[in-house]
Amino acid sequence: MTSNRRRPAHPAPAQEIVRSFYDRYGWRSDGAMSGEDKLFRQFPHAHQTYARGPAARVLRLLAPIGGRLLLVGGGDLPQSHVEICAAFERAHCLDISAPAVEQAKAILGDRAVCQVGSIVDSGLESATFDAVFCAHVAYHIDRSDQERAVREMLRLVKPGGRVVIIYANPRSPFAIPGEAMRRLNAGWTRRPSGTELAEAPPLYYYAHPLSWWRRFADPHVGVRFEPWEAIGSRPARALLKSGALARAFYRAAAALESAAPSLAVALWQYPIVVIDKRR
Ligand SMILES: C[S@@+](CC[C@H](N)C(=O)[O-])C[C@H]1O[C@@H](n2cnc3c(N)ncnc32)[C@H](O)[C@@H]1O
Repeated sequence: MTSNRRRPAHPAPAQEIVRSFYDRYGWRSDGAMSGEDKLFRQFPHAHQTYARGPAARVLRLLAPIGGRLLLVGGGDLPQSHVEICAAFERAHCLDISAPAVEQAKAILGDRAVCQVGSIVDSGLESATFDAVFCAHVAYHIDRSDQERAVREMLRLVKPGGRVVIIYANPRSPFAIPGEAMRRLNAGWTRRPSGTELAEAPPLYYYAHPLSWWRRFADPHVGVRFEPWEAIGSRPARALLKSGALARAFYRAAAALESAAPSLAVALWQYPIVVIDKRR
């Protein structure tokens, strides 16, 4: 295979690839499951209990703030997102995918303003929101635009407010197979692998190392990490083959997260990035 077949001469911009993925596949349902459910949300049964811990951590970081929330890339608004929105007086949902925005409108009704748009260049007024929540979105933004997107979230949050981002850690031992595949394929845009995924269009993904986030810290902006989840659904399915193994793994993961959160941040595939805008 030549590298030309892998890399078109004029690749589509990452945002168009991601929008097309979610419009055509991610937020389409075959009646039972959406494309996103099929690809990224099929976990071993034991994950259900474990996942309450990371969801509660995120809620604890956001709920006490109250006021106005900006939800970036909320997609089909999973239950965790609905609970976060419920802790605020008003929510504003911003997503590049029109079907996602329609789903958010249907779920949140009058409690939210739902808008098609990109966080890279939102056009929204500065210092409008008390908090921003952005889960599993930033690593689908072109690697050269991710800093701009984070600075836009910081611009939109009020002094004293908080930005909470769920990101990925490319140096996590659990991320090694996925990162190696991306290098082999010479790019970050590819059709997700696996036979059950043959129908899926390509999706863009790029995660900077955790040290990259230091650039946002200054005397008025604090940046820190908390653990979100140990592993994504695909490594979970590949590694945790039996129910007993999955239960043992998730019990150990939850214990490590509470006993040694910094170690969990270093090891886990997904961290929570907490950015506090002090003034
Ligand atoms: C992986 S889904 C995450 C959905 C949801 N937040 C969750 O955690 O399940 C990514 C979502 O981000 C949206 N998105 C991607 N790039 C975006 C951008 N630049 N601005 C706003 N939304 C974006 C996509 O359309 C999609 O709905």
